[in-house]
Amino acid sequence: MIEISHLNKTFALKEGVVDAVHDVSLTIQDGDIYGVIGYSGAGKSTLVRCLNLLEMPDSGTLQINKTGPLTMENGKVYYGANKTPMREKQLNQMRRSIGMIFQHFNLLDRSTVFDNIAYPLKYSGMSRADIRTRVFELLELVDLMDKKDAYPSQLSGGQKQRVAIARALANRPKVLLSDEATSALDPEATESILSLLRSLNEKLGLTIVLITHEMAVIKAICRHVAVMEEGRVVETGNVYDVFAHPKENITRRFVASANALSRVDKLLKDDSQLVSVGKGETLIRMTFSKDSVGDAVISQISRDFNVSLNIVLASVEVLEGAPLGGMVSIIKGDPKDVTNALNWLKDHFVEVEVLKRG
Ligand SMILES: Nc1ncnc2c1ncn2[C@@H]1O[C@H](COP(=O)(O)OP(=O)(O)O)[C@@H](O)[C@H]1O
Ligand SMILES: [Mg+2]
Repeated sequence: MIEISHLNKTFALKEGVVDAVHDVSLTIQDGDIYGVIGYSGAGKSTLVRCLNLLEMPDSGTLQINKTGPLTMENGKVYYGANKTPMREKQLNQMRRSIGMIFQHFNLLDRSTVFDNIAYPLKYSGMSRADIRTRVFELLELVDLMDKKDAYPSQLSGGQKQRVAIARALANRPKVLLSDEATSALDPEATESILSLLRSLNEKLGLTIVLITHEMAVIKAICRHVAVMEEGRVVETGNVYDVFAHPKENITRRFVASANALSRVDKLLKDDSQLVSVGKGETLIRMTFSKDSVGDAVISQISRDFNVSLNIVLASVEVLEGAPLGGMVSIIKGDPKDVTNALNWLKDHFVEVEVLKRG
């Protein structure tokens, strides 16, 4: 388990102090794939770098698997309940128990794939034969055996990230930190790296903490998510709940970024014919979730309340195996019937938002 509590990191710049990470507390369970999403500058990279103390937090405590509790005070780190100063050797040991991958791979350009993967093993006291065996295992794991003698410049982006993943896992860490690992990749390579991460999570029980600014990445593999804004974690929960019922504005923006229904906002702005409503008509957005999807709510309200619905936009997708979706439509009928129909929907776990009344 990873427990981050009241973590702070500031940077002092000429222009003033940057609150890069502000009072962040998070718990990440073993074997989870935990996403942290936020726009550029939100503090995501600083937060993950604080987890392996590549960046020394100003204050806070950390428990990473069996390492800890670590207490940070005034930029120094102390170990255990009686706060013994942590030694460089312990620090390195802890860093080795956490793997990390980056957007730009950070490979050694003059070394072959084999040597890149072997690199972190060189100083671990392993024999050359053992290193060779381990590198071959890792090549197998990331499906790159045929590229072992290639140089990074001879690889595609997706293959480079596979090398980086193999290298990050060389010392058998329990935790992998991924900082925008798919952000430089095309959609196909992104998909293949994400499915590799998912299979490593399952096969090795690897805990993955994944930083991204892309909603689609979170949706594809994360089970839990934290939303970051201006150094703070503003919302957390399991992916389905957070995205089905976003509470914060920024979370809504991320949901909208990956949702076909958000096109309605543009249509409204452009005064499109598609969303124009006449007298007695109301433009609404309905959001279904696992409690309501599958019920025949639409046909039921048209029958019971004598209203008619015109579909403008609709989308239902599957998140964590559960359907999540919505519909933008124009509802028409006697005003009292419309009000009753909308109330009925709300009672049946459909979120209803009135966008425009005719
Ligand atoms: N080494 C640094 N020195 C000064 N400011 C930094 C440094 N690293 C990050 N920052 C600042 O901290 C804030 C958070 O940055 P970062 O963690 O990189 O965000 P993200 O990864 O979400 O884009 C930004 O305002 C950034 O400019
Ligand atoms: Mg970053």
